[in-house]
This record gives sequence, C-alpha cells and structure tokens, in this order.
Amino acid sequence: MSRNGSGRRVLVSGNWKMNHTHYEAIRVVQKLAALLRAAPLPDGTDISLHPSFTSLRSVQTALESDSVPIALGAQTCHFEDGGAYTGEVSAEMLSKLNVRYVIVGHSERRALFGEDDEVVRLKLDAVLRHAMTPILCVGETLAQREAGMAESTVSGQLIAALKDRGPEALGSIVVAYEPVWAIGTGLTASGDDAQAMSAAIRRELELLDGDVSRSMLIQYGGSVTPANAGELLACPDVDGLLVGGASLDADKFVSIARSGR
Ligand code: PGA
Repeated sequence: MSRNGSGRRVLVSGNWKMNHTHYEAIRVVQKLAALLRAAPLPDGTDISLHPSFTSLRSVQTALESDSVPIALGAQTCHFEDGGAYTGEVSAEMLSKLNVRYVIVGHSERRALFGEDDEVVRLKLDAVLRHAMTPILCVGETLAQREAGMAESTVSGQLIAALKDRGPEALGSIVVAYEPVWAIGTGLTASGDDAQAMSAAIRRELELLDGDVSRSMLIQYGGSVTPANAGELLACPDVDGLLVGGASLDADKFVSIARSGR
C-alpha cells in the first residue's frame, strides 16, 4: 500500500508557543470542540494541542470533561525527573496530566535557549521514560540550505537523537521537519522540497530500522496555513503538520487538519 493509501495515519499538531492565557486557551478549546462535534475529522487523522505550561491543566480538564478528540501536548520539558532546577517542568509532571505528545528540540529552543544535540537526546530519553510520544524537531537554517547542507544538517540532528535506540523506542517517536527559515516567516517549503527532505529523513530512519521507519510519522512545519496544508499533506512522505501561528485560531487549525483527504 502506498504511504498515501486509505490506511494512512496523519497527525496535525498545534504549537501555541508563548501565546494564549489559560482563559483564552479554554475559549479556543471550546470552539475546537464545537467544530469537531459538528463534523468529525477524517478517519486516521489525529490532532494534538500544545499550550503553554500554565494552560495545560485547564486544557486537560476541558478536553477530558467533554471527551474532545484532541490529544494533549507540551512544548518542552526538563530531562531530569525532579530536583533543584528552578523554573523547570519534568516529563513525569506532564505525564500525570495525561500529556501524550511532547515537542523536543524545537528550533526556537535550540537557538534561543541553547539546547544542543546532547540536551535534545536527554529530553527524548525523559519523554520516552514516561511513556509519552516525543515530537523530535529537526531542520536547517537558510545559511545551511544555501550552502547545500540541508540534508547533512538534518541527518546529523537525527543521528544524534536517535542512534542506538531499539525498535520500540524508535516506533514511538514522531519526527517534525521544520526548516528554520520557514518558521514564522510566511515562507513555506514547496511541496517538492518538503517531500524531498521528508524522503531523506525516511532514508535516514531506514538505516536505523527498516521495518519501523515505514510506520514512523514525519510532520512538516513552517508557516503552514489552510492554503498550503493540502499540498503539503499530499506528499507521500509527509504524515502530518506541526502548526504554529495558524493553530492559535480554531477555524484555521481545524481547516488545516481536514486538508489531508
Ligand atoms: P509557524 O510555526 O507555523 O508559526 O511557522 C511552526 C513551528 O514553529 O512549529
């Protein structure tokens, strides 16, 4: 069966970044719930929502009390389970809130908060240790792309995070390809570029484990909108989208999630 066949799984994730107070978050969740009640998502399409830490508990309660078909996600976590780390939140704390997906290694964390490949790997360990699904972000900067280093940059990030992991761990990791030059800029990779990079990522995953690589989800992220989501999701190796700005608005986010069929 082709990867775009009817049994295909799609994961569309909304990364709210440092936006929405918990009051605003609840309002958006209520609107999302109403939209999904009026018309459910296509079979095989899942969505996750990644609010800020201060909204997690409110969003969890809103989702669970109404059985809204949206998985709870977080934007990052610390790699230790507890201790003297002022201001940090552990993977264990997230798992107790029924968080299912945790974004790890987002380019903003790498660039603005000094997270290197070693920290990213430790965070992946922590998320897996607490039985959640990491969304591992990889992607090249504009300078790296212009120097012809897009594939080697992404491959280096993948190997640093994933080498020496067994099939079970690999099978529970989602990879998000997010070219740094496309994030929040209004520039999107073309369908061809997104497909070429996702296929390169799949080849890299195949080297780690041939069988598991075929079922792993690869998302694209970077200025995704309702206007370009369909083209991106039509790419055979793009299994979902990581959406920033456009996920803040319930109508836009649901319209993106419906673009896969
Ligand atoms: P954007 O963000 O959709 O606003 O470009 C994507 C992301 O950073 O995950």
